[in-house]
Amino acid sequence: MKLISDSREQTLEIGRRIGNALAPGDIVALIGELGSGKTCLTQGMAKGLGVAENVPVVSPTFTLVNEYPGRVPLVHLDVYRLSGPRDLEDMGYEEYFYGGGVVVIEWAEKIRRILPERTLVIRMAYLDENTRELIIEGPPGTMAELEKRLESGGSNSWR
Ligand SMILES: Nc1ncnc2c1ncn2[C@@H]1O[C@H](COP(=O)(O)OP(=O)(O)OP(=O)(O)O)[C@@H](O)[C@H]1O
Ligand SMILES: [Mg+2]
Repeated sequence: MKLISDSREQTLEIGRRIGNALAPGDIVALIGELGSGKTCLTQGMAKGLGVAENVPVVSPTFTLVNEYPGRVPLVHLDVYRLSGPRDLEDMGYEEYFYGGGVVVIEWAEKIRRILPERTLVIRMAYLDENTRELIIEGPPGTMAELEKRLESGGSNSWR
């Protein structure tokens, strides 16, 4: 599935709808250059997962992982500073991956080898200052659900 977001607000809404569709144990890999909107999309997913609105969701670039309670807990990883999956393996990443939350990983291409087959992969690209392309691929069941939820942007229409 390919979407074009024309604003930060649209990316938040796309994220919210994705978050609504996610279930405990789901893993979301975000791939995209600096500023492509990975954290913005995660902030939307946090809303969709029922993370309290007053809790700021920030990039865990230095802390590696942030956890947020919600309808389903959000485990947000940013592996930008890791050299590869070994670092995560040494830390016992299974506790994060299989701890019952939804796991969202920024810079997931760095740890491709340890991503499960059923990972939802979202590639984000910077097209211009306000425009981002999102390419979403994942297990058929999840994709069917997302097609339904994302088919109409309503008043906040994406392409
Ligand atoms: N359509 C859009 N979707 C998402 N963000 C947008 C869009 N248009 C502009 N922006 C801006 O682009 C920036 C995206 O930053 P964000 O931190 O989400 O990127 P990132 O991919 O997480 O970067 P990093 O690799 O540094 O973690 C924000 O400042 C946001 O306001
Ligand atoms: Mg980020």
